[in-house]
Amino acid sequence: MTGYEKVRTAEKSVRERTDFKPDIAIVLGSGLGALAEQIENPIVIPTQEIACYPKSTVSGHAGKLVFGRIGNKNVAIVSGRVHYYEGYEMDEVVLPVRLMILLGAKTVILTNAAGGINPAFHSGDFMILTGQIAQFVPSPLRGANDESFGPRFPDMSEIYDKNLVQKAVEAAKEIGLEVKKGVYLQASGPNYESPEEVRAFGRLGADAVGMSTAVEAIAAKHMGSSVIGISLITNMAAGIQNEKLSHEEVKKAADERSAAFVCLVKRLSEKL
Ligand code: HPA
Repeated sequence: MTGYEKVRTAEKSVRERTDFKPDIAIVLGSGLGALAEQIENPIVIPTQEIACYPKSTVSGHAGKLVFGRIGNKNVAIVSGRVHYYEGYEMDEVVLPVRLMILLGAKTVILTNAAGGINPAFHSGDFMILTGQIAQFVPSPLRGANDESFGPRFPDMSEIYDKNLVQKAVEAAKEIGLEVKKGVYLQASGPNYESPEEVRAFGRLGADAVGMSTAVEAIAAKHMGSSVIGISLITNMAAGIQNEKLSHEEVKKAADERSAAFVCLVKRLSEKL
């Protein structure tokens, strides 16, 4: 089965359970899990019950899709992103995002934890993505194209719509949160980068580095969806400060900023 056929099968599987049509899809990164709990009367579908949905590699952390309302919007939340570093093929990595768009989402909000490269950033900052560098990981569009999803050679000159970047900045202002803007670079992981790599990425124009989002943004843009990206800078990338990186530090920073992150994404959803 091609990646596209898998998404269609997954769509049928969801449609046997619900006819909910999301306006917005939100893919949760570290620290945003609490957003799913804010939905009233949610429809919850464990991802393991969806045909062709990639099986979670993290035991005890089964993924789920949560459908419901935030403010005045129908939203679908992906709590069960899969990463390239887990061993999935890129067509599996982008299946959740493609599925959300087939279900009806016109806008996709991609959130993540990332390491700060820009020396003006600090751990705990939020960065609205204005652009991205994805050439260090394979394209999710590699292989036979399905024209009903999008063109063979899709334009990527404005992946993150300028108006939506502005809306995200305004949403932050409204809740009294200062945000940065910048370019996200996707590394393959799972190892954190070396200081030499981080220095090189900075010279290439990256403000932050992470292990998700950019390929999901490509798949969403391919399908003509609007894309918003928000990074939580959980740490400064390797070598920017003289500190070793650990997953514990990333998780701790994500937890500490969880409430603000939830608040920002909620306000933004209401404004879209
Ligand atoms: N590098 C890559 N991914 C990350 C980092 C980092 O420093 N922090 C959180 N996710």
